[in-house]
Amino acid sequence: MADSTIYRASTTAPVNIAVVKYWGKRDPKLNLPTNSSLSVTLSQADLRTLTTASCSASYLASEGDSLLLNGEPSDVSGARTQACFRELRTRRAALEAADPSLPKLSTMPLRLVSENNFPTAAGLASSAAGFAAFVRAIANLYELPASPSELSLIARQGSGSACRSLFGGYVAWRMGSAADGSDSMADQVAEAAHWPEMRALILVVSAAKKGVSSTSGMQQTVATSGLFQERIARVVPQNMDAMEKAIKERDFAAFAEVTMRDSNSFHATCADTYPPIFYMNDVSRAAIRAVEAINAAAGRTVAAYTFDAGPNAVIYYLEQDTEAVVGTFYHVLGDMDGWKREVLSGLKPTLSLDESV
Ligand code: ADP
Ligand code: DP6
Ligand code: CO
Repeated sequence: MADSTIYRASTTAPVNIAVVKYWGKRDPKLNLPTNSSLSVTLSQADLRTLTTASCSASYLASEGDSLLLNGEPSDVSGARTQACFRELRTRRAALEAADPSLPKLSTMPLRLVSENNFPTAAGLASSAAGFAAFVRAIANLYELPASPSELSLIARQGSGSACRSLFGGYVAWRMGSAADGSDSMADQVAEAAHWPEMRALILVVSAAKKGVSSTSGMQQTVATSGLFQERIARVVPQNMDAMEKAIKERDFAAFAEVTMRDSNSFHATCADTYPPIFYMNDVSRAAIRAVEAINAAAGRTVAAYTFDAGPNAVIYYLEQDTEAVVGTFYHVLGDMDGWKREVLSGLKPTLSLDESV
């Protein structure tokens, strides 16, 4: 009779929101980027993916590997998901070959069950938390002796931004130069404790699935935007240097300016894509104006906005300026009607950075 043991492991992974954005692939197959990027990992206490991986000889081989995402069956036949399965199985098979007493988990079908406690595919980095959790859950199940860097390399193949969710605090994804992608992974620029006052406020403008996925949007930008060439050749390298310096020196004004400029630059390349891609909407633009008003009223920079591939705003600020930023957002948005109330109702609690991933 076949062994009916079910092997199981669970993990959670956090969202990260880039302050210097990844947008563009130089190698879509290996998921290698056209530029380096830098992000902040948010607290898992608020936004996280929870994934359980299991395998068993009693799972029917004919059913193959599967993923249940937010309660719905999700396609795992895509090349990038397959690459993650393959990389992890190869490492497990090597352990089994070295120690024949280990159960042959690498030969069993995998079942993944995953849940995001925030909107999926709405520009809040679900693919980042999602693939980081996916890869780590299987690595835990397989008891792989893999470092966060090695898992980052695998998660990158699932979704680029996921390579940064294997680390807490301030995280850079170095684009690398090797043709096989072996040097394209994330590393930690500074731990969360280096700048513990940092906070993020999420304005959920819309929880709807975006019209153009990140994968498809960046492909269109690379193919058609002239402005994009300027971004990857000059704008991003400058922003990476300035951002690393701002973080090291805990210089919020510099951090904020680079964050806002880089978000604007990224959305400008989307508008320069042909046909143009618009991820931000009128509510997003009103949030930009609100940040400008908050900074003007304070007489210094206390808040920075950034938008991923979606209309939802992430506002970075420091703990000591909570009243000026969150208080004013509530006040400004609360005083208006219609769409502003929608934003207000979507205000998520203030998030701190993640200490431990
Ligand atoms: P987002 O802005 O939310 O990252 P993307 O367009 O980059 O949006 O990616 C969304 C896709 O990421 C989903 O359609 C799904 O394929 C994948 N994804 C999201 N969450 C998970 C998860 N928990 N586990 C596995 N894959 C996920
Ligand atoms: C705007 O990592 O979602 O959020 O690699 O195709 O899965 P794929 O794309 P993804 O792109 C993220 C784009 C971004 C910026 C960022 O997170 O750096
Ligand atoms: Co994504």
